[in-house]
Formats: sequence, C-alpha cells, structure tokens
Amino acid sequence: MGSPALRADLLSDTLTRPTDGMRAAMASAEVGDDVFGEDPTLRALEERVADLLGHEAALFTPSGSMANQLGVRLHVRPGEELVGDSLAHVVRAELGAAAVLSGISSRTWVSERGRFRADDAASLMITGVGPYQVCTALVVVENTHNFGGGTVQSLEEIRRARAITRERGVAMHLDGARLVNAHVATGVPLADYGHEFDTVSLCLSKGLGAPVGSVLVGSSDQMAESRIWRKRFGGGMRQAGILAAAGLWALDHHVERLADDHARARRAAEALAEARPGAVELATVETNIVIVDVAAAGWAAPAFVEAALARGVRTYAVGPGSVRLVWHLDVDDAATGVAIDVLTELLRSGPPTPA
Ligand SMILES: Cc1ncc(COP(=O)(O)O)c(C=O)c1O
Repeated sequence: MGSPALRADLLSDTLTRPTDGMRAAMASAEVGDDVFGEDPTLRALEERVADLLGHEAALFTPSGSMANQLGVRLHVRPGEELVGDSLAHVVRAELGAAAVLSGISSRTWVSERGRFRADDAASLMITGVGPYQVCTALVVVENTHNFGGGTVQSLEEIRRARAITRERGVAMHLDGARLVNAHVATGVPLADYGHEFDTVSLCLSKGLGAPVGSVLVGSSDQMAESRIWRKRFGGGMRQAGILAAAGLWALDHHVERLADDHARARRAAEALAEARPGAVELATVETNIVIVDVAAAGWAAPAFVEAALARGVRTYAVGPGSVRLVWHLDVDDAATGVAIDVLTELLRSGPPTPA
C-alpha cells in the first residue's frame, strides 16, 4: 500500500497527511502536561469545540472510537443496552468495545443507507420493564453516516427522537465523526445538531485533516467523569497540545473546503452513473462518500478493487458487490479526473471474461 504508482487514493478520509501550515502550527504549539490539566493549547481546543457544539465542556481523545466509547459508558450502566442502526460505527466497527469495556449490550434496527428515523429507534427501545428485560438507556445516531455512504441525517427526525427519548428517560449520543461534513452540506449550525444530544463525538482526523484526535462534548460533570475513564482506557496524554494545534488549525482552515470534497464526489458520481446506469444512485450522494454498486456492471467488489488498484486508484469494498469511494484533502481535481477515467472504464468494460 502507499505504492508510488497510486494516482488517486479514495480509500478513506482518514488518510490525509498534515499540511505544511498544520505542521508549523504543531511545531510551535505551547504545551503542558494534560494529565495534570496544564496544556493550554489542548484547553483552547476543548473550549472551542464545546462552544461550537453548544455544550458546557469537552474532552480530547486519541481516537473517535474512544470518544464514542466514553460517551456510551456515561449513559449506559453494565447490563443495560444501547440501540442504533445495524451499520453504525459504534456497533459494527469498534470491535465490541461497549460490551468488552463497559458490559453494555447493543441492539440494532435495519436502516436504508444509515438514514435515521425516530420511529426505528422508538420501536426498538424498551423502557420501564423493571428487572425483567434489558433496559434501553441510549440511542446512538451517526451523522454523517459512514457505511451508509455519507448520509446526512434529518434534523427533524433527530428532534422527534429527542422528544420521544426525553419522555422515556433515554439518552442520545451523536457519533459526529463527520458532523462537520453534514454542517457544510446543509448549512445547519453545528450547535443546532449538538443541542439535540447529551453527548457528541467529533473527529478531527477524518475530513478535517488532522493526524490524530477526536473530541467528546457534554456537561462539565460528564467530562470530568470521562476524563477519569479516558485515563483508565489508557488515553491520558501528556504534551498533547501538539495534536490540539493540528485540530485548531483544521477548524480554522479545513472546514469550508469540505465543500470541495463534496463537489468532487458528486462530479465522480455523475460520471460513474452515466458510464453504467444503476451503478450510483445520485440522490444518495450527499457529502464526500460515494457507494458504487459494481455488481450492476457484473463485478464482485474485491475484483473491482483489485483492478482499480492495478490502475493506480485505491478504493474499498464495503459489501460483496459494493465499493466505497471517499474524497478528502489529498484528492484534488486532477486525481478526481484520474479516478473518473479508471473507474468509468472498469464499469463500462465489466470484469474480464475467463479465457
Ligand atoms: C462514523 C465513525 N465513527 C467513529 C469512527 C472512529 O474513529 P477512529 O478511527 O479515530 O477510532 C470512524 C472511523 O472511521 C467513523 O467513520
């Protein structure tokens, strides 16, 4: 991987490398020992993100998974459950962390491309059943939705769920790894999303382009508790202001430019849809992620991924017949053009016929 022949790397928006400006900001960051709460740059980042999301306090974490898992354990006691959609990162890609680390069970509903509907959550939740059944303590929502294909969640549905969960004493956590993509795509202020959730995690290391780091927001008491659990999880960091400086740089310089990623994803999606009708449903392309139904052109996803890679374009198989393409800071117009040429050609030709 990382081969010099790679001409467009659409594997993930986690691939971005820090820009020169970001590296300079990191090199000159004022730092202290954050386990003692003495890192001024980290403090500034936490205050900034709490403010952006309209919450009282924030906590920096080394990863989005840790931010989610700290959020989850704040709301759910051992033996209780969280509910979410079956494609959610928290239930599908954090390797059972809620169960392993916090004794939490999970149940899921099936969604269309990760699209959140309040009724799905409401019909799965079980509350007020005393000692007889597992009680639902938390609904997890992901916005944008990664495996769903960058799906932007409806604020109206979220508000409906908030009203229902509040009545039933169930908390809500937002996996906002790509919440800034949703904000840029819709113009909805980050705080409007933040307002509907007890806790929110936000990743600096996805489309925003920082090398490391996520932030969890919630109340001051919750963040004080999460700080203890972060240390237990092995995530207490020392001069992490170096990382926070990258996050602050990203918030200053890499938010509006997410619109470029969205535009390039759309440009490619339109070309692929034209090359092979049925391969991309254009209405589903909402942000920086495109899911291609390569089976519509007769391909199995692993063979398509291999053929694209052999031509210098890296992609990711997300299902037996579907492939994910992700735009980010390190994929410019020229690389997008290369990806379009290679992928449209593969969709037009279909897989090689056996000799
Ligand atoms: C939606 C979502 N949530 C959480 C994460 C976890 O982030 P990390 O890889 O930093 O643990 C990811 C990672 O891709 C993600 O896509």
